[in-house]
Amino acid sequence: MLIRRAPRFTSNEITDRKVYLSRREWMIGAAALTLLPGECGAATPQGEPLGATRNDGLSLKEPPTKFEAATTYNNFYEFGVNKDDPARLAHTLKPRPWTVQVDGLVHKPKTFDVDELSRLFPLEERVYALRCVEGWSMVIPWIGFPLASLLKRVEPTGQAKYVEFTTLLDPKQFPGQRASLFGFALDWPYTEGLRLDEALHPLTLLTVGMYGQVLSNQNGAPIRVVVPWKYGFKSAKSIVRIRLTSNEPPTAWNKAAPREYGFYSNVNPAVDHPRWSQATERRIGEFRRRSTLPFNGYGDQVRHLYAGMDLKKYY
Ligand code: MTE
Repeated sequence: MLIRRAPRFTSNEITDRKVYLSRREWMIGAAALTLLPGECGAATPQGEPLGATRNDGLSLKEPPTKFEAATTYNNFYEFGVNKDDPARLAHTLKPRPWTVQVDGLVHKPKTFDVDELSRLFPLEERVYALRCVEGWSMVIPWIGFPLASLLKRVEPTGQAKYVEFTTLLDPKQFPGQRASLFGFALDWPYTEGLRLDEALHPLTLLTVGMYGQVLSNQNGAPIRVVVPWKYGFKSAKSIVRIRLTSNEPPTAWNKAAPREYGFYSNVNPAVDHPRWSQATERRIGEFRRRSTLPFNGYGDQVRHLYAGMDLKKYY
């Protein structure tokens, strides 16, 4: 976001998942040999297979981006500002045990173990495109459940109008939160927000996996939100708290650069970011740029949420 780097991938540069996994097994084996006693910690289930029922009705009919690209070209500033920092450094994140506190303006606040959530709500696979404000996009088979299912369970009060997401704050696990390491810092912890009706929209997915397996650390393990009609930065990673509020919650990127990152951040080819045109995008793995669609192609499903709003003002 603050640092501009062109995507490095072309379709023939990207390794197949099978080759990637065998190479990865080799690397994990080699890494285990070099670990000091006690460094191993609890086994993290990232990479383990995760079953889910494909929701074809809510899935893009496009081939997914190669797994290796989706797990090595990331934005996760808690691990640094470069696209390859998260894949290199995310082993310091311990995604189990992990709890998510759901509270604020609700009748039944509760702290859930992340694995309890995956048992409570049937997991679906949905292929969504993630469109980054930097002008690239990826097509990812996410696994998760509608955020609405969780919110309905805790029963929002009549005063609840917004939902705030908070990422874990722990500089020991997130080197980027030790600002001196990278010379760049958001106001940690990373927070994001949605209006309650956006959060309750059936497309909004709390995500615990991708590509048929448990979410990798660099993609926001153990749980992140995915909001497919908004720019990628709305999709907060490694969430520890979901809080219902009556006022619009402040968000990390909006606090850092208010002119560049609005609260709504609906994908809108007609409103350019001050530094990047939003008219087109490049799917990672493709050469040609394609036209960006309003609401990232979900206009029919979500346009009504913004009836009567000036989306240039509420960017
Ligand atoms: N969540 C946290 N906690 N920290 C981040 O830096 N980056 C955001 C979003 N969620 C970010 C985050 C941005 S800018 C994008 S584009 C997406 O995550 C990238 O998701 P991906 O790396 O899984 O493609």
